[in-house]
Amino acid sequence: MAKKIILTGDRPTGRLHIGHYVGSLRRRVELQNSGEFDDVLIMIADAQALTDNADNPEKIRQNVLQVAIDYLSAGLDPKKCHIFVQSAVPELTELAFYFMNLVTVSRVQRNPTVKTEIKMRNFEADIPTGFFCYPISQAADITLFHGSIVPAGEDQKPMIELTNEIVRRFNNTYGEVLNECQILLPQQAACLRLPGTDGKAKMSKSLGNCIYLSDTAAELKKHVNSMYTDPQHLTIDQPGHLEGNTVFTYLDAFATDDDFARFLPDYKNLDELKAHYTRGGLGDGTCKKFLLNVLNDRLEPIRTRRAELEQNLDYVYQVLRDGTEYARHIGQQTLAEVRRAMRIDYFEDPNFIKEQKAQITNR
Ligand code: TRP
Repeated sequence: MAKKIILTGDRPTGRLHIGHYVGSLRRRVELQNSGEFDDVLIMIADAQALTDNADNPEKIRQNVLQVAIDYLSAGLDPKKCHIFVQSAVPELTELAFYFMNLVTVSRVQRNPTVKTEIKMRNFEADIPTGFFCYPISQAADITLFHGSIVPAGEDQKPMIELTNEIVRRFNNTYGEVLNECQILLPQQAACLRLPGTDGKAKMSKSLGNCIYLSDTAAELKKHVNSMYTDPQHLTIDQPGHLEGNTVFTYLDAFATDDDFARFLPDYKNLDELKAHYTRGGLGDGTCKKFLLNVLNDRLEPIRTRRAELEQNLDYVYQVLRDGTEYARHIGQQTLAEVRRAMRIDYFEDPNFIKEQKAQITNR
């Protein structure tokens, strides 16, 4: 039976925020601890980050370490998973180069995530080729390690589709070497794309609407208190609206029944709280206070571990070094198979030279 291998990663363009946490990180930790997988590989995608940050390598360089600390403090455990740095595995680049022959330009142009990103970055007139090709390189990220399960957000769906197209194309052309994969999306709708604290579509550093895993308790409190709710909910007894109400979206993503028992026992669960809010008579302050308790409960242990890791950066670097060495080892094995299948293993194939001699020298 095919092995169950998890492969996923993040671009190190900034520290990770709670959108990353509910969208993927929390799940990765559970999966890692489930013992159900043959291997768990987590990649810091610095090479992909450079595809749209070519002129800002220092930013990427700093954030490789920050993301590694975020991973470890969120509970990824190097005894159960391998955390590695993309650019330090050159086999990825080689595989991506071969994959480029199997994908048309128009196929990449149809990728809705890339389309959105091109708009967001004002790349319409001048798209860096590397950026344009990153979905192909992402197919290499997954297949080099025989990744079969990719925990990621909804925006990564088109990448997984493309990966599987490439795998089928490769296997049909050269023989069965690579395997297809499947995306593992967050279970709840609220976790698919957690909005910023201002209710805007996405958390983004430039909008200042992110709650980072590394935020202090005081910063968290400030964010929660200024969070966007229902602008029409002016007095407590008015009925409030849940649609687009960030506090409730965050509660959807974070709050459990157990949280109610611990922090807000007047209500059994979120449905009861929502019912009261929409009926009228429940103020935003109560909801925010509850949310703050819930978030603090999740983030406090992460903060504590981060503080420890910050005092032990040698350890963090050792984790990356070990993980990367492991990833390279797997990558080299896969690439040897790829080269054999593609008939470019000249020096590894003694029969090849024999055949050529028979054809050419002894003609
Ligand atoms: N594109 C992903 C992101 O922007 C990062 C990434 C790179 C990735 N390679 C991957 C995710 C492979 C899953 C699998 O977050």
